[in-house]
Order: sequence, then structure tokens, then C-alpha cells
Amino acid sequence: MLPAAPSVPGRRQGAAVAMQLLLGSLLPLLVLQSSAALEPISVGIAIGAASALTGFLSSPNFYCRFVECCPGEGAQPNRTALKQVLDEKLFGQHLAKDVILKAVTGFINNPNPKKPLTLSLHGLTGTGKNFVSQIITESIHKAGLKSKYVHLFLSTLHFPHDQQIQMYKDQLQKWIRGNVSACAKSVFIFDEMDKLHPGLIDAIKPFLDYYEQIDGVSYQRAIFVFLSNAGGDVIANVALDFWKSGRAREQIQLKDLEQVLSVNVFNNKHSGLWHSSLIDKNLIDYFIPFLPLEYKHVKMCIREEMNSRSNKIDEEIIQQVADEMMFFPKNERIFSVKGCKTVQTKLDLF
Ligand SMILES: *[C@@H]1O[C@H](CO)[C@@H](O)[C@H](O)[C@H]1NC(C)=O
Ligand SMILES: *[C@@H]1O[C@H](CO)[C@@H](O)[C@H](O)[C@H]1NC(C)=O
Repeated sequence: MLPAAPSVPGRRQGAAVAMQLLLGSLLPLLVLQSSAALEPISVGIAIGAASALTGFLSSPNFYCRFVECCPGEGAQPNRTALKQVLDEKLFGQHLAKDVILKAVTGFINNPNPKKPLTLSLHGLTGTGKNFVSQIITESIHKAGLKSKYVHLFLSTLHFPHDQQIQMYKDQLQKWIRGNVSACAKSVFIFDEMDKLHPGLIDAIKPFLDYYEQIDGVSYQRAIFVFLSNAGGDVIANVALDFWKSGRAREQIQLKDLEQVLSVNVFNNKHSGLWHSSLIDKNLIDYFIPFLPLEYKHVKMCIREEMNSRSNKIDEEIIQQVADEMMFFPKNERIFSVKGCKTVQTKLDLF
């Protein structure tokens, strides 16, 4: 009649077993206790149940439901979900979409990465770089940018004074060391790379390199993302050439851009990566170009924004908002100057 009690009270079982035991043994125990005095067998069950309960409560499965935990070795991003978000909400960026999907899932599924994943996102303002970095972080840490394992650095806010560069370098190294020690899968995002003091970023070079450990800490599972407007004009020129020769923008391939982009950024004093050893030593895994957005993409952004606000789509307003945006080059007016950046505020006016 009685379910078997654990043979050694106090031994911790798996959480699932613990729950079964708990449900199975508590009920008969309550009934038994009212009639019989404490017999050895029910005491045994009670101790077993109690220890099973503490085991369950202190197990990661339970704890991490309420408190954010660093993802374990086996945690994998949902590739389907990642692809779906990119398909539905990132417009006009076939290259970025492909590379991100491959790079991120490949890296996370690799049981033994040799170096941290380092991505450098380039393009004009409003083309989706920030959005993509948010999507990447959310696929690894549910809380996204709010996660305590995700660190966003803004050049103008965190590293504003040129004369304090040595202090910033020391601080940055200390932060990265501290945070990766706490969670191997930490994500570091450097926004406004083009406003970063040249040379500062080289302070993180040791962490991006092929070292198994540095002073007992392994950085191989961390992710570094750089965001930059630098190179945006080079990308726009390539996109314009394609347009002028009547080829579809979807025919632009990564190889048309990756090399020019890295050379351009390396030689640009205002890219944050000027003469950087990160490029010299090939420590940046992917240079990801974000193409300038066309009129139809801007309309997609407006439609998506409307949809997320009220679920009501008004094509007339979409067109009016899109017509308010500025486009370049002056004569052809093909690409949006600010991408989709001002869409939200413009929509507020309607
Ligand atoms: C992955 O995401 C898809 C689409 O959002 C969802 O249907 C599926 O259940 C998810 N899979 C897992 C294992 O969470
Ligand atoms: C982690 O990084 C943040 C900056 O994002 C910093 O304030 C904090 O001190 C770092 N934590 C450790 C343990 O170094």
C-alpha cells in the first residue's frame, strides 16, 4: 500500500523523482499520523520527503525560474525562434540575417569553441544594428539587454575623456575578467565604436585571442559585438552600384563587402578600429554589413511598428510617414538617410 521510501534518508534525488516521491508519500503520511503513533516507517518517509523537497528547491531547475542564472553548457538558442524574429522584423538585410543565424547558432552549438565569438556590425544609422544585437542577446539570455550577463558600453557615456584612456583600458579589462569569471557566456556590446578613442579597444585583444585560459579564466564562450556607422558609406556605394546596374540588392554577396569593409575600417581614424590589432590578427570573426534601406523597407518598418502598437494597419498613414523621410542620393532618392530610425517618432505625429 505504501510507496517505497528512499532507502537512505537524506540522499538527494533528481528533481523529478523528488516531486513524485513528495506527492506519493505526503498524502498517506497525513492519514497515517492521525491514527498511529510515530512508527519508524512513517518517520523514514517524512525525512525522505523533506530531504527530497530541499533537494528540489535548491536544484537549478527550480531556482533559475525565479532568479536569472548563467546558461549552462547545454543551453542552446532556439534556432527556429531566432530565424523567425529575423524574418519578421529585420527588413532588407539578407546578408546580416544569414551571417547572424549561422554565426550565433554555430558558435553556441560548438561544444568546444577555440575563441570567443566576435562580430562587427557596420552600416548607416537606422539600418538594424542595434535591433540585431538585441536579438542576439535575447537568444542567449532571456532578459536580453536587461540581463545581468549582458554588458552594453557606449563610447560617449563610458569612455568620454581622451586623457583617461589608460584608466578606461584597465577598467575594461577588469570588468571583462570579473564578468566572464561570473558567467562564461557573458555578452559584451560596444556601441558607437566610431566614437571610441583609437587604441582603446586593443585593451581587450587578449580576451579575443585563441587562449584556452588567461589567469585561470576561459573567455572562449563569451560574445563580443561591435556596432559602428563606420563603413556605412562604402556599403551604400556598393548597394548604389548594384541598383544602377539593375541588379537586385539580394544579389549582393558577403564577399562583395567583407574585405572592403575591414580594409576601410582599418584605415579609418574614426572607426574605433583604426590600425587595430584585432583586425591585424584576424580576431574579428565576421564583418557584417547592413545595407541602406529603400522606400519599401521603410514602409515595412512603419507597418511593423503600427502592428505592434495597435494591430490596426492603415496603408494611407504608412505612405504619409514614409513620404516624410529623407532619401539619398539627391537625384535618385533611393535610400533612406536615417533608415528606419525616426519611424517611431514620426508615427507619433499621426
Ligand atoms: C522554438 O521556437 C519555436 C517558434 O517560436 C517554437 O514553436 C518551439 O516550441 C521552440 N522550441 C523550443 C525547444 O523551445
Ligand atoms: C561587470 O561589468 C560592469 C559594467 O558593465 C561593471 O560595472 C561590473 O563591475 C563588472 N563586474 C565585475 C565582477 O567585474
